[in-house]
Amino acid sequence: MKHRIAIAADCALLVRLNHQLIADERHRNPMTTAELETRMRSWLAGGYQAVLFEDVDEVLGYALFREEESELHLQQFFIARGRRREGFGRRAMALLREQVWPRGKRVTVDALLTNEIALAFWRAVGFRDYYIGLELPPQ
Ligand SMILES: CC(C)(COP(=O)(O)OP(=O)(O)OC[C@H]1O[C@@H](n2cnc3c(N)ncnc32)[C@H](O)[C@@H]1OP(=O)(O)O)[C@@H](O)C(=O)NCCC(=O)NCCS
Repeated sequence: MKHRIAIAADCALLVRLNHQLIADERHRNPMTTAELETRMRSWLAGGYQAVLFEDVDEVLGYALFREEESELHLQQFFIARGRRREGFGRRAMALLREQVWPRGKRVTVDALLTNEIALAFWRAVGFRDYYIGLELPPQ
């Protein structure tokens, strides 16, 4: 598996994958592709970085993150449909930690409680439960 830092020209690809990520995690985000693209462009222009994971002829996934003073926050992480459960997610995380991210910083990620696959994945690669976000549904 190879990796490269995404550039502005990768924005459409990232948005396509972001759209699939939202569906797969059953997130309630209703943004259209155009809205996702606007958001992705402003993220990439404003402090976020994306890394694409690739094989010879194939995109295997991506990670989008931002570095803050006290932590590195992983905003999005996605392995391509059809290539899951082959260890690519685990390898991508190891690669980020060894070759991309600075050492000595904790990494945070948010996951929906209903996204049981992601929770199993994060715990399998070393994350520990830290907080629970609660909401009061509208009346
Ligand atoms: C979560 C995700 C990134 C995992 O990627 P992956 O490449 O399939 O994960 P790996 O094959 O490296 O799995 C590593 C470990 O995670 C756990 N895991 C991964 N998928 C799992 C599943 N479907 N059920 C249970 N455990 C799972 C296992 O412990 C696995 O180790 P094992 O295969 O030796 O048992 C991928 O399923 C995905 O992109 N999902 C949709 C997007 C998403 O939800 N992203 C996270 C948002 S917070």
